[in-house]
Amino acid sequence: MNKKLIFFVFLIVFTLIIIFVIYFIKKPTYSAVYRGRLIAFKYGCFNCHGFEGIGGIKNPGYKYDEIPPWQADVQMMYIKDTSEIKEWILYSKPLNREINNKGLIKMPRYKGIIKDDELKDLLVYLKVLMGFINIDDSIAMKGYLIAKNLGCFGCHGDYGLGGMPNPNSLKGYIPGWDDEHFDKLVKNDDELREWILKGKINRLKFINFVMERQVIKMPAYEGYITEDELNALIYYIKWIRDKVKSL
Ligand code: HEC
Ligand code: HEC
Repeated sequence: MNKKLIFFVFLIVFTLIIIFVIYFIKKPTYSAVYRGRLIAFKYGCFNCHGFEGIGGIKNPGYKYDEIPPWQADVQMMYIKDTSEIKEWILYSKPLNREINNKGLIKMPRYKGIIKDDELKDLLVYLKVLMGFINIDDSIAMKGYLIAKNLGCFGCHGDYGLGGMPNPNSLKGYIPGWDDEHFDKLVKNDDELREWILKGKINRLKFINFVMERQVIKMPAYEGYITEDELNALIYYIKWIRDKVKSL
């Protein structure tokens, strides 16, 4: 009887531990950009600015015909300094100058509606979308353009900061290069090189079955990238991981 009870208790504890471990492995660690995208969705920003700020939404009587998209070339007109992004969101205009673009559809005031920590993530997301990340390093710039041309940002997000959903993957999304767990997937430059060339790495062979289940897989870029380009790309990934800390 007693033995049965002990076995039973053991079984329950064991099951709980397993559930706990699985929960932590699968728990998403979204990057600021990923969170920012969900926050923009939650607060209805895309209703007017288009999905991911792509624009294209008409505004009758508005000076520029359409509600401004969040693309880099448009921002010069609206944002003189990155601190103004926050003011637009909270007060529907920059505080220190008048704007009179008219238009039937108005930018709402989010003061008192959006939470502080949400605003922080939203600002990182917008800075990335609007191209306010200044790549002031020529090798990093080269790597950035290579990544752009190879389609990396489609899956890993603009600048590689963000990530996109991925059904059947461990955490449900493709991590950005600033992901909290990046260090677990990439220990050094050799592994980074292996990821890019082969689309997987030997050290993580034991979880290949998990990788294979993912609907969207990391492409193997071998044959599509020169040694010189690969080096610039690796340089860029390390550069942006560092840069994101100061956003
Ligand atoms: C009801 C429609 C609407 C919604 C919802 C909306 N906006 Fe706007 N937004 C506008 C309009 C219209 C303008 C242009 C205002 C002007 O020119 O005076 C604008 C301007 C802006 C600008 C400055 C122009 C630019 O593109 O840089 C920013 C930044 C901005 N909105 C961010 C946001 C964010 C972030 C959200 C969600 C939290 C949001 N907006 C929600 C309509 C909207
Ligand atoms: C079609 C989507 C897709 C494209 C395009 C893509 N990747 Fe990936 N990448 C993935 C997936 C999926 C993973 C696996 C992530 C995991 O299992 O956690 C991955 C993993 C990685 C990793 C391992 C570390 C991490 O971020 O998780 C690196 C580094 C990486 N990719 C770099 C690149 C580079 C550089 C490019 C462009 C040359 C690129 N990727 C293009 C989907 C993509």
